Amino acid sequence: MTIDIKKIQKDMPLLDKYIYLNTAAASAMPQPVVDAMTSYIQKQASIGPYLPSFRQETYENIEIVREKSAILIGAKKEEIAFVPNGSMAVNFVSGGLQWEKGDEVIVLDTEMLSNYVPWLALEQQGVHLKIFKTNLNYMVDLDKLEKFITPKTKMIAFAHMSNASGAIQPAKEICQLAKQKNVLTLINANQTVGLIPIDVKDLDCDFLLTCGRKWLRGPEGSGILYVRQELIQTLTPIMIGWGSTNWDYRNNDYSFVTTAKRFEPGCPVIPSILGLGAAIDYANDIGIHAIHQQVKLLTTYLLEQLQSIEGIVIYGPQQVANRLSITPFNIKGISPDDVTNYLAQHGVIIEAGTFMANTIMERNSINKMARFSPHYFNTFKEIDIAISLIKELR
Ligand SMILES: Cc1ncc(COP(=O)(O)O)c(C=O)c1O
Repeated sequence: MTIDIKKIQKDMPLLDKYIYLNTAAASAMPQPVVDAMTSYIQKQASIGPYLPSFRQETYENIEIVREKSAILIGAKKEEIAFVPNGSMAVNFVSGGLQWEKGDEVIVLDTEMLSNYVPWLALEQQGVHLKIFKTNLNYMVDLDKLEKFITPKTKMIAFAHMSNASGAIQPAKEICQLAKQKNVLTLINANQTVGLIPIDVKDLDCDFLLTCGRKWLRGPEGSGILYVRQELIQTLTPIMIGWGSTNWDYRNNDYSFVTTAKRFEPGCPVIPSILGLGAAIDYANDIGIHAIHQQVKLLTTYLLEQLQSIEGIVIYGPQQVANRLSITPFNIKGISPDDVTNYLAQHGVIIEAGTFMANTIMERNSINKMARFSPHYFNTFKEIDIAISLIKELR
């Protein structure tokens, strides 16, 4: 399937003013996503949220989005919980498992803060956080990882793709290795759902999470947590409320619902969930495989063009096959803020920062970098424009 870029760009109101190359932070929503949310909000405002038939229809629509989310990642509907962001999903897992003193958790040295601090916080319970050093190409060396796992290791939590290096980890192989050693796995897929085809049964992970606002192009405040069916009952929700429990009033008791809905304590964030549903439809209409292929082409082109800039240093894996879209860089003698500000003045949006993955800064003896992260709606011409602007700064 090829990408109909003209049609896709027609759905992006911001293109009148901007070239948007920062999907790793949050993407630009396509118009149908905005429409799904605004039509709900409009209707809700005009008839009220609790007209019985409307409320019923709304809750049915939410369950339809749950089904779509499950299909998108190869899961069952019962294994999906809606979360407002990826960080919350990590917390539901780190806070919900039963830990014993001396248990070990492994994270990668390239993790973003939100897949680091929830595990670090477990040290209060005597859990030891072990940081696995990725190789010079920011990749996990599986033999080294095997040796790093001990009988005390209980969990490996890793980003499928690092937001700061663009390295795509061999998720299936990591999960396979973990399973052989009886270790749980959490895939932080915040940077891959909507970009790379994902099948949790094929990956054989125990937990997987994503926000909706990045590669799916959904709204802020949307996200999903996948919990493998057999593990749902073993994960104690860190929050509790009417959405997640059955109340036995007479006996002054309660029980959690048996599906992943037990991680949804209260009223769902309805506009965001409906927007997420529209975003999944939008991605499926284009095709996740087609999206993946297109972004591969854009990545290769971007890397080639960046090489032509004098004094450029590109971070991340050397091999293009090990990376996708996310391309951090610096230019000798020019601060990354100056690069992003200059581009912004000319209507091109990229980002500069530490990306909350400070070990990557340390490894390269820098304190900031600039980052491109094109998605399928970007064009080769847009990349050319961005590169020419950077060259003007030289
Ligand atoms: C790799 C990675 N993990 C976790 C997060 C945090 O996700 P959220 O903002 O959805 O809580 C981000 C956000 O940028 C990320 O890129």
